[in-house]
Amino acid sequence: DLFGAAKYQLPDIWEELGAVGLESGHAYGKALRTVKSCVGSTWCRYGVQDSVGFAIRVENRYKGVRSPHKMKSAVSGCVRECAEAQGKDFGMIATEHGYNLYVGGNGGVNPVHAELLARDIDEDTVIRYLDRYLMYYILTADKLERTAPWQMKLPGGKNGGGPIEHLKEVIIEDSLGICDELDRRMQHLVDTYHDEWAEVVKDPVRRAKFKQFVNSDENIPREKMIEFIDQRGQLRPTDWPADGQPQTNWQAPSDDVFARSEKSWVKVGTTSDFDPNVGSPILYGDSQLAVFNNAHRGEWYCTQNMCPHKQAFVLSQGIIGSFEGAPKVACPLHKKQFSLEDGHQFDGDLKLITFPVKIEGDDVMVELPAVEEVDAILGTNGLRVTKSDCIDITGDALKVPVRSSVSLVTEEAGMRNTTLVH
Ligand code: SF4
Ligand code: FES
Repeated sequence: DLFGAAKYQLPDIWEELGAVGLESGHAYGKALRTVKSCVGSTWCRYGVQDSVGFAIRVENRYKGVRSPHKMKSAVSGCVRECAEAQGKDFGMIATEHGYNLYVGGNGGVNPVHAELLARDIDEDTVIRYLDRYLMYYILTADKLERTAPWQMKLPGGKNGGGPIEHLKEVIIEDSLGICDELDRRMQHLVDTYHDEWAEVVKDPVRRAKFKQFVNSDENIPREKMIEFIDQRGQLRPTDWPADGQPQTNWQAPSDDVFARSEKSWVKVGTTSDFDPNVGSPILYGDSQLAVFNNAHRGEWYCTQNMCPHKQAFVLSQGIIGSFEGAPKVACPLHKKQFSLEDGHQFDGDLKLITFPVKIEGDDVMVELPAVEEVDAILGTNGLRVTKSDCIDITGDALKVPVRSSVSLVTEEAGMRNTTLVH
């Protein structure tokens, strides 16, 4: 896990890890997580098989395979089951003669014990059955369905017994005549595996997509966006207030705070800088804005990048779509939904400030007030959430962080090195 890393730091981190042979990306995504094992026969007097070696083999075979949901696995070196293999989507427990293979377990809110698919089989046979089991799951489960609920919905065996009997018939006896196809498809996935992050590192175009801002090479350090506190000698972001407690919810100072401002069209990039159907962050002075290229509708929008729910600078990473026909962005953190047209919240009373966008030739233009006016309302520094924000606010808990005119003067000279063209 790369906790605390900012998106723009990832290519550098992957490059460093890759240089010493460490791949990234297995701790997240709908794919196999790192396979757990006990120390096995190498280090434990009870071990009857090399559980470490087999766990590495299993992990290397199925790493990166996309699946309906995450998949967890473990290998225990004897029946004492220190690796808890029966609590995994697929788990192997060593015996004197090989391994017992269990499938369809998970932990979480509704723990399920895996069921025994085959007993005393060698490593190659485990792999063959796993190829078929996993491909059968991948091809027939619903999106976001773990193996346990998928398995429970399968029919029973022809001669009685629950879904595990059906799985034995399909996977071991080839009752549906699909094993060759399942084998072939899994082998194709295994043969075409590649480290996607290593490819980003090597490709300047894809690497550029990780820039913090489309229109600037500047990075705003994370500690300027949120306050960090020390816990056990490590820095972590300060807590946000829980729902129902006083919030730092920011609200736009008025319906159209910039109504009387003089505005100009500002070039923030060219159309190819903005990927279709996602948001992209731009920097304007100290203010972070989000530009949305809604290619589905052939429309462009610009809003503040800061989500007013918890004052997090994340809206450019939100999911765009529609709400009763109107274009929206859903915040990636807690999924509050905002209109891209006028910024109002569809599922609450928060509001974003929006700015008009137009395309001139290849140029993306946003109509903006002067930098210092926007910074007074949306400047990153003024919106930083601090610990005291989270615990001291009472009453209606409204926080409207407008800077004093004194601080505006000192900030005025500090417009950043963006590629803005007035
Ligand atoms: S599962 Fe068995 S081999 Fe593995 S650590 Fe526990 S006792 Fe030892
Ligand atoms: S920060 Fe909570 S919905 Fe955006």
